[in-house]
Amino acid sequence: MSNSVNQYILQKINERKQADNFRALRVKHGLIDFYSNDYLGFARNSELSAKIDLEIRNQKSEIRNGSTGSRLLSGNNDFVVEIEKQLAAFHDADCALLFNSGYDANLGVLASLPYKGATIFYDELVHASMHDGMRLSKAEKIAFKHNDVHDLEAKLQQHSGLKFIAIEALYSMDGDEAALNEIVALAKRYDVAIILDEAHSNGILGLRGEGKAQAEELHKNVFIRIHTFGKALGAHGAVVLCNADTKDFLINYCRPFIFSTALPLHSLAAIKVAYEYVAKATVERKQLADNVALFKQYFSNFKLFELLKSNSPIQCLVKQGNGEIKAMAEKIQCAGFDVRAILPPTVPLGKERIRICLHSFNTKQEITGLAQTINNLN
Ligand SMILES: Cc1ncc(COP(=O)(O)O)c(C=O)c1O
Repeated sequence: MSNSVNQYILQKINERKQADNFRALRVKHGLIDFYSNDYLGFARNSELSAKIDLEIRNQKSEIRNGSTGSRLLSGNNDFVVEIEKQLAAFHDADCALLFNSGYDANLGVLASLPYKGATIFYDELVHASMHDGMRLSKAEKIAFKHNDVHDLEAKLQQHSGLKFIAIEALYSMDGDEAALNEIVALAKRYDVAIILDEAHSNGILGLRGEGKAQAEELHKNVFIRIHTFGKALGAHGAVVLCNADTKDFLINYCRPFIFSTALPLHSLAAIKVAYEYVAKATVERKQLADNVALFKQYFSNFKLFELLKSNSPIQCLVKQGNGEIKAMAEKIQCAGFDVRAILPPTVPLGKERIRICLHSFNTKQEITGLAQTINNLN
């Protein structure tokens, strides 16, 4: 046991406690869900769950539990290959490559593809997994102002060599959408490869839930799309959509893909069934859109917080101060609604917020109740 290591740990914990942004795991029971990413209710859908069980039973392989190895060794099988074909077809991509999580996919793509001498231009609000991938990459990294195409263009003009743009389709902590059309135009003009994280748009945007790039018919202009399954799909894992050469490149160089045990049968079955469902989930998408509209109607005149501009299920109430935001989230929770405070370093300092996630399954009464509770805060 090392005393100095323990001291270091305590010092770091105390730093968080003093800044009032100490993270702790909590389980709350009986509250109404306004915080999960289960936008379409797939994670709680018992019909879906029964179909996943059936799909598992239908699989003939004797490997029933863990996948036994990485894809390059014993973890590859007919089922995973079939699902990659299903996803490539659904997303109108040349190829699909499954990853164990969206974190792994973002980390692996950004760490392996942009090499020394290349430059990654990234939106200042991209997810931590993209940042972590960039930290591992030897490329130069340049942030541009959130969704600011003029700032992006000014920065693109100053650099030569191989270029990448890293963005999210629907920003996870703000709920607004990328200016994809304009960014695609810039990418064409400056010969840049776009890496687009569709984590929160998957299942939500597009007539069949294909995501933002397909909804706007821009997907052929996006070099890599990363769709995750842990949010609207109610499952786990992620897929990288790309061309055949890029898939080969990732299989050869992308370390989170190469050096990790592949997804187990249950996850694969859940992905397959969730994708069959999501294409047909028009009622859920309509309910979700109605609930977002209802929520925005209540909050358009809200004084205590700044409501970030968003037409998505992610709605954020911003107010400065860790302690204040935490106390308000606590009050809302005490009234029976599960919402969470999001603090720096997850969001920029001074932009502390309550992140509210709306779902297809939230009732009008629940949304009204939440609105009244927030309006009564002081
Ligand atoms: C924008 C974004 N990208 C990637 C991820 C990581 O995906 P996963 O949860 O599948 O690891 C998340 C999850 O928090 C996310 O919000």
